[in-house]
Amino acid sequence: MCSIIGYMGPDRAAPILVRGLRRMEYRGYDSVGVATKSARGMQVRKGVGRVGEVSGSHRLEEMGGSVGIGHTRWATHGGVTDANAHPHSSSSGAVAVVHNGTVDNFSELKAELLADGYTFKSETDTEVISNLLQKSLGEAGGSARGAMVRAVARLRGRYAFVALFGNGTLAAARFHRPLIVGVGGGGGGRDGGQGPGGAAPAAPAEGPYLPSSDVMGFIEQTDDAVYVDNGHFVTIDRSGMRAYSFDGAEAQYAVTKVSREFADAYKGDYAHYTLKEISEQPDTVARAGSGGGGGGAVAEAAALLRACRDSGRGAYITGSGTSYNAALVARHVLSKRAGLRAEPVMSSEMPHWPEPVPGGSVLLALSQSGESADVIEAAEMARGAGASVVSIVNLTASSLAQESSVVIGMNCGPEIGVAATKSFTSQLAVIHRLADEIAGGGGGGGFDPAAAAAAISDVLSDHARIRGLAARLKDVSDIYVLGRGVHYPIAAEAALKIKELTYIHAEGMAGGELKHGPLALIDSSVYVIVINPGDSTFDDMVTGAREIRARGAKIIGVSDKDSDVYDHWVRIPRMADESAYPAVEIVPLQLLAYYLALERDTDPDHPRNLAKSVTVK
Ligand code: G6P
Repeated sequence: MCSIIGYMGPDRAAPILVRGLRRMEYRGYDSVGVATKSARGMQVRKGVGRVGEVSGSHRLEEMGGSVGIGHTRWATHGGVTDANAHPHSSSSGAVAVVHNGTVDNFSELKAELLADGYTFKSETDTEVISNLLQKSLGEAGGSARGAMVRAVARLRGRYAFVALFGNGTLAAARFHRPLIVGVGGGGGGRDGGQGPGGAAPAAPAEGPYLPSSDVMGFIEQTDDAVYVDNGHFVTIDRSGMRAYSFDGAEAQYAVTKVSREFADAYKGDYAHYTLKEISEQPDTVARAGSGGGGGGAVAEAAALLRACRDSGRGAYITGSGTSYNAALVARHVLSKRAGLRAEPVMSSEMPHWPEPVPGGSVLLALSQSGESADVIEAAEMARGAGASVVSIVNLTASSLAQESSVVIGMNCGPEIGVAATKSFTSQLAVIHRLADEIAGGGGGGGFDPAAAAAAISDVLSDHARIRGLAARLKDVSDIYVLGRGVHYPIAAEAALKIKELTYIHAEGMAGGELKHGPLALIDSSVYVIVINPGDSTFDDMVTGAREIRARGAKIIGVSDKDSDVYDHWVRIPRMADESAYPAVEIVPLQLLAYYLALERDTDPDHPRNLAKSVTVK
């Protein structure tokens, strides 16, 4: 999704903005831009491309001025063009805006502004905000606060934006999209003081202040931050920062410490974040669920879910993309190990689901970012109906966390690679902890985090073989991935990784279904991956694999058990319980997708057209 950032402080803004944008680039990366205000006036430079490209070609870091705003874009309104790149200036150039989210009533507002004589240079909804602010600034006698109150009252949709006014004032608003302001020079070594109206220490009046959509935007600069409340805006000028609710009433704010672990989000020696994050999984699986409220949150969530089970009401599980695949695994694990029936529903399907989540029930919402619009909408609907929302999130200060009665932190550290890897296995590990807790420790002990961590380490030690396999597969046009039972969601997840990272057509299917139609697609050019641990699904999977092989396709078996049906065997360790395999068997397939991306010369960290968290519907 788009990232927005602003800076006001003693230093030159542009290099700091570009550094922040680089670190947030995983959110969206089709175009980039910066606006600054210096003694020479307001300057905007922007263009299509990645941060590295645009900052070189447009010499972004050379821009003058100690106040500015910046943006990386993931297109929603209008194509990927220089004109549609942010920042967007108002007709007169008096205001420039960077924006994440959507303005739903932009056509209506644009028609009104056009009738008033305002001009538009782009197809974006953002330009409506700039022009609306310019108009409101006039009506409010030049007051940034007055302009913001008037403008936000007119906007419909879900958004966060940062505006730079011609007098050098910054303003930033949050409505159902994240907005966090980094304050101070960093490291916590600066003086405290009183925040306007608040008891917490505030930044020194002179800043620096860095409003941003993500902690990553300012973590190099400071680990002190203000989480702007939903429906609030801030204004920042040389006298300091002030917060207001959308009606203009001054509000208190508190400066809090953000987790230092965000500072560790460097690639280190790894070629790509994706590889780093795949490799971190022994560690992240072992510590999953200890973030946020830790064990207390797991116990609280378990009590809610146990009540659902015992009353016969059942629960719902939701997520998008990879998180939905984790929900499918959760459906098996919660039923088998804790006797809880929980219906998995894709978050985007929730508004159209025939049986909405009933009051008194529980919606278990899975999301790495906690910012996916579909998941947040599902949570809002459930809460509106009187259900409790239990979320399993990596970013515990996210919008989803704020919608939830109980928040379990995945605690896997920042995930920067756009394709989810370590967050998936962390979600699975948390689900197991939850199942154990619901079962009162009597869940059969099917998942031992330490054993899973050791098995993942074992799989990761075999990079070379998986790399070799990727070299063989690099020119295939179709890959099918099959699994039965609790392994079917892993087939879906593996196919998703292959699609995202390599652009090869891949489909994940239930093991028995290929013969009911898709078998017509099988010929000698096709590779079929069978997820085939030596458990209750093994014999049926081997039978299915023989039928496929008889039609000429090559079979790759992911298993702890060899079989003559495999053309290639990807060996995984034996696990004590069927439900413990998913968190292990996905890992070689993540690696395969990664190495296939390298073989095919695609960028594994930044797949085309995708964004890390999709904060629009
Ligand atoms: C986007 C990402 C996917 C991710 C999905 C859900 O589509 O590209 O990789 O699985 O969002 O993200 P969440 O943060 O809600 O888990």
